[in-house]
Amino acid sequence: PRVTIVGAGRVGSTLAQRVAEKNLADVVLLDIIAGMPQGLALDLMEARGIEIHNRQIIGTNNYADTAGSQIVVITAGLPRKPGMSRDDLLKTNAKIVVEAAKNAIAHSPNAIFIVVTNPLDVMTYLAWQATGLPRDRIMGMAGVLDSARFETFIALELGVLPADVKAMVLGSHGDLMVPLSRYATVNGIPITELLDAPTIERLVERTRNGGAEIVELMQTGGAFFAPASATSVMVESILLNQSRLLPVATYLQGEYGLEDVVIGVPCRLGCGGIESVLELTLSDEERKALYTSAQSVRQNIQRSQE
Ligand code: NAI
Repeated sequence: PRVTIVGAGRVGSTLAQRVAEKNLADVVLLDIIAGMPQGLALDLMEARGIEIHNRQIIGTNNYADTAGSQIVVITAGLPRKPGMSRDDLLKTNAKIVVEAAKNAIAHSPNAIFIVVTNPLDVMTYLAWQATGLPRDRIMGMAGVLDSARFETFIALELGVLPADVKAMVLGSHGDLMVPLSRYATVNGIPITELLDAPTIERLVERTRNGGAEIVELMQTGGAFFAPASATSVMVESILLNQSRLLPVATYLQGEYGLEDVVIGVPCRLGCGGIESVLELTLSDEERKALYTSAQSVRQNIQRSQE
């Protein structure tokens, strides 16, 4: 199989490394900057003997080279600068993502698309519109990352192995995300048994602020290692038909009482893309938070089209 990654910046190039070195697929890295994806591809190719895999990595500035991809990941666009919210990227990135989606689908009409560019939910909606794909074949990555952050903070607080912590974050990728603390566990034990309410609230707040915390520290761009890992998990579940249940930004058609909006909810990911959307029972407070989150995505979809 072949995975195209549009945008060979920090998230895109790290994802290329993850996909190739996990031996999931050949990779085509595309960017508008001449020479840059070619150089990265050569660098990754030269690591193959050491990492012991035989995947091809191609760098290009031309969409013709992406033809026949099973998966297209869009990471093209600007990242945040300190003090910026994801929404500040709206108009610039909208143009880039729509153009990338149209170009990519022209050469890979059967591909499944994963959008990573921020503001994530809006960009996924615009890419869905631009490609005309059925909703099972176009989705956004955010929830897997936000959940991994929440899990990390819980694991650090309790001093346990991060992989033993399971949590899910729904909603939009931003300050209005909805971490479901009620459902978070350490190997099946609810965290509400292990941590008091103020501590959980503190970890939830840190999760909401997880991206900005890294932007503030780095000053130049945002996180990319964990975002690339999170995206590679989605790629893997699709390519290997694993049917993992993951929080994915998807176009809702009445689920959770929401329509014509993209937002993160639990989805099963397999070889056809989104195999099903799971409707969890939410508390009143959680449902309200999800609606507020959806409302802000709607407003930004509108703003992007003004
Ligand atoms: P970056 O600046 O390192 O890379 C972006 C790349 O896109 C650059 O190489 C640039 O040349 C390229 N690009 C710009 N316009 C293009 C076009 N028209 N066609 C092809 N390539 C184009 O940024 P980074 O850190 O890799 O982040 C990429 C995006 O992903 C940002 O919007 C960022 O906010 C977002 N992001 C989303 C996350 C999520 O959870 N959904 C997590 C982390 C980042």
